[in-house]
Parts: sequence; structure tokens; C-alpha cells
Amino acid sequence: AKEQYHEFVVKEATVTRLCGAQRIMTVNGEFPGPTVEVAEGDALIVRVVNRGSYNVTVHWHGVRQMRTGWADGPEFVTQCPIRPGNSYAYRFTVAGQEGTLWWHAHSSWLRATVHGALLIRPRAGVPYPFNGGEPPAREIPIIIGEWWNMNPIDVVRTATRTGAAPNISDALTVNGQPGDLYKCSSNGTTTFAVKSGETNLLRFINAALNTELFVSLAGHTMTVVGADASYTKPYATSVLMIAPGQTTDVLVTFDQAPGRYYLAARAYASAQGVPFDNTTTTAIFDYGTAATTSPAMPTLPAYNDTATATSFTTSLRGLRKAELPTRVDESLFFTVGVGLFNCSSGQTCGGPNNTRFAASINNVSFVLPSTTSILQAHYSGGGVASAPGVFTADFPANPPVQFDYTAQNVSRALWQPVPGTKVYRLKYGAAVQLVLQGTNVFAAENHPIHLHGYDFYILAEGFGNFDATTDTAKFNLDDPPMRNTVGVPVNGWAVIRFVADNPGVWLMHCHLDVHITWGLAMAFLVEDGVGELESLDAPPSDLPLC
Ligand code: C2O
Repeated sequence: AKEQYHEFVVKEATVTRLCGAQRIMTVNGEFPGPTVEVAEGDALIVRVVNRGSYNVTVHWHGVRQMRTGWADGPEFVTQCPIRPGNSYAYRFTVAGQEGTLWWHAHSSWLRATVHGALLIRPRAGVPYPFNGGEPPAREIPIIIGEWWNMNPIDVVRTATRTGAAPNISDALTVNGQPGDLYKCSSNGTTTFAVKSGETNLLRFINAALNTELFVSLAGHTMTVVGADASYTKPYATSVLMIAPGQTTDVLVTFDQAPGRYYLAARAYASAQGVPFDNTTTTAIFDYGTAATTSPAMPTLPAYNDTATATSFTTSLRGLRKAELPTRVDESLFFTVGVGLFNCSSGQTCGGPNNTRFAASINNVSFVLPSTTSILQAHYSGGGVASAPGVFTADFPANPPVQFDYTAQNVSRALWQPVPGTKVYRLKYGAAVQLVLQGTNVFAAENHPIHLHGYDFYILAEGFGNFDATTDTAKFNLDDPPMRNTVGVPVNGWAVIRFVADNPGVWLMHCHLDVHITWGLAMAFLVEDGVGELESLDAPPSDLPLC
């Protein structure tokens, strides 16, 4: 294992997309940002220098960050933001994980353009669990994103001011390019050169802010071998469903008639009646033959094809037998959903019927602190479980009223989230089982729930109300997939398990940025254990202060 040093300079750059030039925030002037490539076990030092005009932090999405919570990145949760003119070095080790992860800004909506791939290969001498143990002939990172013809920070600021839903994006992108189905975009279409007969590893990342994606490659079968940097049993499919935050590694053998083939992605819009970007982004896989005919186009599922989306996610199996404790120390039930705040009197708000959009977990709509980060308050207070004015430790283990789809009227209480900065305390080493139940009070929608600092097993998913007496029989305790982001099915539930072996403060949130903006988040505070290896490391000396 080695140590790598990188410098990420956050700064503006001008790019032209959809017929217009625009100033965007970038890392080192690149969009998408630089790809970081490591071998499992490597240590990284990434010094982020803020030469932009906004506060920024960087999150290493999916990296376990064992005892290095100071490097996790969510602003006001584990650190104060890096102010313009300042810098901070993220120091961490990538251990026990192989596959594809990514990094992105974790401040406001900066991650729209400030993001990049993190590729984790097996360490020297360790074989790949596919392709006969050999490295694939070629590896192709494919980042699918979302583009606005407007500064994304202004998009979210406007929405926050009015309480309305933010504007939908103007395009989806593959490695930063919308592709030739959009106006003024054919020249920039992302093209991947492939070789007849070769098997390549495609490393997909959904970096879109607010769009779950169906992805398909014309004429070729994709064999999924990993997701969120955990290996899966090989699963052959013609279509992927990837939620924001998730990654999917697939093997493709380029065994078709030499030619050009479209990769295409468009929204899986689980929420009905809610506007979404229904455009299609494309890239071209090119065998290197003369481009005389137009590329073949894949068939994508209908935008509302929940059956296909769910059958994809529930078909994934962990490659190895799960190492799950048989005990459950903490049994939690969290409702996740979008609701509405009343507009303050005398004001005009942009949400439905003069309301403001709000979202919550167990009815608590998460509010970031502003004077320090939760982790700093916890640590500098000597491991305190609450810090007056910053956070309290009373996040509820259950919703205030039982959610029930079959009830005639959903309780009014679930329509009225309460703002708060609350954490749920976990003892070091606790085995946690968490039922995530979509409430879908305002609109039925799939919520990709991401947990920082952990991978978790997904034991089961289903529709309707989770029923503790019958649904536990559906738990896969043998080979459940391990991920860091689970799509809670529209009108349904998912059950996850993890062992709280990483002390610190760990944000959990919906990875649709519009929902985290509205408060669909909470944090776990995992206490220190007794040994040195069970305690959070001390903060680095350059940790930004508020
Ligand atoms: Cu990828 Cu808290 O996020």
C-alpha cells in the first residue's frame, strides 16, 4: 500500500453546453473532475484549495473513513466549510473496499459540477473476482450527470427563498457531455473506443442531482459484477437502474458486428405527476469502423417502469456470504418522505396551496448547524451526546404516528415535519437494523437513502407497509448485497443492517439533492469504544473552523 498526494483546486471555468457558454465551478478546471485511482489499502491525502467564490467541502462518497470522520466532508456535519482562499487536506485510507466510488462537493448544490470518479483496484497480488482473476482489458469510468443552463447554486437558492420546487435540469450528461440528441451537442458527444472481442469493465456512477436513471447499451449484454464498491454475483441484464449516489460496475464483451453503438440513459421517474427532465443522454461505443451509418439505439424502459427498476435492484446478490451478526441491538423504524411546511403568516410561498416544501425522517426535517460542525461540537465537548445550540441526541427511533398506506387519511402529523438538528446515538459495536419506510405523503417516490461512514446489507425490499410479522421471512441473510445507498422503492420499504463499528458523526440522507435541501436527512452519532482502534482519531490541525 502506498500514499498518494493530490491537489484539488476548486475554481471557475468556462464550458459550452447546449449552445451556450457558462461559468461553472470545477476541480482543477476539469469537468467532470479528476479521476482518482487507488489500490485497496492506499492512503490518500487530497488538499482542497478553494479558489472559487463559494464555501466548499468534498465528500468521498462510500469511503468507509474508519475513525477518520474528519475527512468525510459533509459541511456542518463533520467539518466547517473551506472558505474562499482557504484549504484543507483530506487524509484517509481506502481499505476493505474494491470497485467504484466517487467524490463530490458536499455544500449546497455544488456537486452538480464538482465531482469525479474514485477507482479502487485490488492491491498487488490480489486477483479480481471475475475475468479469470485478471484485470479487464480496459476500464471505462462513465459518470452520468445533470446539467442546468443556469448556475445550480442560483437554482437552489431561488427554490429555498420561495419554498417552491427547484427548476428541473436542462440535460443529462455522460462524462460531462449531453450527447447528440441535444441541440448544439453532436460535436462533443462522448465516444469510447473499443476493440472487437475485448471484455471491458464499465464503471457507472450516477452523479445526477435529482434523477434516478435507466441505462442501456445497444446490442450488448451487461454483466453486473459490483455496486457501491462491493462485489456482486454476476448478473446479466440489458438495462441498469442507478439512483443518485450509486455506482454499478459491469463487464461488457464487445462481440457484436463491428460498428457504433449508443449508450443511452434517461430518467426513471418514480414520482408521478412531478415534473422531471425527460431527455435522453447518449455516448457512443465505437469499434473503430468507418462511421457510415448512425449508431444503433438501445430500447430503454418507460420512464415510470417501476417493475423493471425494482427487478434490477432486487436481483443483485452479494458475491460473498454475508457476515451478519445474528443479534439486533438497535431496531429502528424510520419513515422517509416529502411533506409541506405551512407558510409563515403574511408571506407568499411557492409550494402547493401557499406552502413550502419540506422533507423529513420520522417527521424531523434536518437543519444544518451554522456555528460549528456536529462532529467538532461532539469531540471538543469531550465526546458529548448533545451540544446546546448545535445538536441534540433525541432523534426518534420510531415515527410519531404509525404510517399506514391503507388508512383513509394519512395522519396530519406526517404532513407537518418539525425542523431540528437531532442525532441518533449508537453504542460502539451495536448491531443496527433499520426499516426505511417511504411515506409518500406529498408524492409517491423512490428515495435513494445514503449512509456516510458505513456499508450496509440490504436484507429485503417491498411495497406497501412493512409488516414486521410477515416481511421478516423475506430477509436475505445469506447473500444480501452490500451498498452505501439503497433506493427505498416507491410506495414501499427497505430493510438494512450494519454494525456500528466506526465512531463519529455520520449523515444519512436522501441522495436526491432537492430532498436533502428540504431536510430529508439525519445523523447517527456512534460513540467511541474502549480501545484505541475503537476511537475517533484526533482532528487534523488544518480542520476549517466556522
Ligand atoms: Cu454522496 Cu452525503 O453524499
